[in-house]
Amino acid sequence: MKVCIIGVGYVGLVTGVCLAEIGHSVICVDNVEAKIEKLKKAVSPIYESGLENFIKKNLKAQRLQFTTDIKYGVQNSEIIFISVGTPSLSNGQADLSYVEAVAAEVGKYINGEKIIVNKSTVPIGSGDWVSMIVSESIQKNNPDKNVKFSVVSNPEFLREGSAIGDTFFPDRIVIGSSSKSAIDKMLELYSPLIDQSFDWPSIDIPRLLPKGHKVPVVVSDLTSAEMIKYAANSFLATKISYINEIANICEKVGADILKVAEGMGLDSRIGPKFLSAGIGWGGSCFPKDVSALAYIANEYGMSPQILNSIINVNREQRLKIVKKVQDELKIVKGKTISVLGIAFKPNTDDTREAPSISIMNSLINLGARIKAYDPIVKEKPQTLSEKVIISQDVYDSIKDADLLILATEWDEFKNLDFAKIKSIMNNNIIIDGRNLFDREKLLKLGFKYIGIGR
Ligand code: UDX
Ligand code: UDX
Repeated sequence: MKVCIIGVGYVGLVTGVCLAEIGHSVICVDNVEAKIEKLKKAVSPIYESGLENFIKKNLKAQRLQFTTDIKYGVQNSEIIFISVGTPSLSNGQADLSYVEAVAAEVGKYINGEKIIVNKSTVPIGSGDWVSMIVSESIQKNNPDKNVKFSVVSNPEFLREGSAIGDTFFPDRIVIGSSSKSAIDKMLELYSPLIDQSFDWPSIDIPRLLPKGHKVPVVVSDLTSAEMIKYAANSFLATKISYINEIANICEKVGADILKVAEGMGLDSRIGPKFLSAGIGWGGSCFPKDVSALAYIANEYGMSPQILNSIINVNREQRLKIVKKVQDELKIVKGKTISVLGIAFKPNTDDTREAPSISIMNSLINLGARIKAYDPIVKEKPQTLSEKVIISQDVYDSIKDADLLILATEWDEFKNLDFAKIKSIMNNNIIIDGRNLFDREKLLKLGFKYIGIGR
């Protein structure tokens, strides 16, 4: 089938590449020319394991095209995905200006019957709103006033860092629309994924579902599909805030959160995933989606108590690290602190809403000198204080530090040379914000080890 993806960010690019790999002809459109130029040369603008191989392969097979020409994309496809960003405004509301601009362009150029798919996470009711924008634009700008289209909500559930695996081997596919024929087309589009009938190239990422496995599909109305996305992300964020709250209680009563989470997670009704206590959730989705759902509830005169609480628990979780630093160092002013990990989670270069950034900015405000290191993030994110020094070598970032904070659990940090670290640090305090390190080993080496909830 012929597909157009508008907005080639983390979600759009991975989705486009996956659809090309399962045999569709995909045109990826983005308004950032530099990004498109890179992609034409098979260079990924984002760090995502395995992605570049698929871009290369599908460019070569001529199933994948990259362009800034939205008219070309819209007019040469039957299914059009909108996957531009929907960041938070300062009041928590989702900023729909990019979706609006794209929907108007689609309406202007649409030729013949099309399906417009909302892949971006948009507030409940946005499907109908997109439909209205496209219709208005057709009436205003399109030579064919009778051109037909349907709108579908098809939320994404891919995690950065494991986006390829999540896209090819999904837990479920959600399709919401009031149009039966649009739903049938979407089922046809995804049939190689639903039946897991595609061949898997031999790459580092393993085939996570056996060939022939049936992926569950949830077909619903538009509004329910939009709600599924918000409710799923908010539930996962709730699970993390819950375990963080339990971790904080563990610290007071002397329990170990690792044992507690293990004991809880073995209950099949709870499950072991998303029970890692730490410095809180960040990234491009959880913070904006939980806030947007709370905002929607407020619009209906509700006060969503669980959503508000998990937002507060998450904010405080980051501040708890700053408090731990104050408890240890007493005077923070003039002290050198090394921060390992800048990205909001491992295996991505994304720093949006990264807990490490709030922690570093707070410590800078308290007068600390910060040296930070990340295996992939080598440039200072815009939201990070100018005063933070980004080290290009992990041991440079640790040298002369009075205290070390582990903020992102990259694998690389598991195997550091701690004897060397002990010899180059000014002091011996480690705050392990992700419970990554081997506590016993560090204690034996003479470090003061402070984890989360233990
Ligand atoms: C996506 C979704 O859109 C968001 O709603 C979801 O919750 C998470 O995933 P993401 O892929 O992370 O967001 O966004 P981003 O990486 O910012 O990519 C958006 C892309 O759209 C960018 O490449 C940007 O250049 C492009 N864009 C934006 C356009 O092509 N046109 C526009 O008008 C605006
Ligand atoms: C999330 C959703 O998981 C995914 O389905 C999609 O809709 C986009 O949003 P992503 O933000 O890429 O994916 O990462 P995820 O793995 O969900 O982690 C989000 C945050 O939670 C990270 O900051 C991570 O460090 C934190 N986290 C996750 C924990 O603190 N503990 C956990 O146990 C799991």
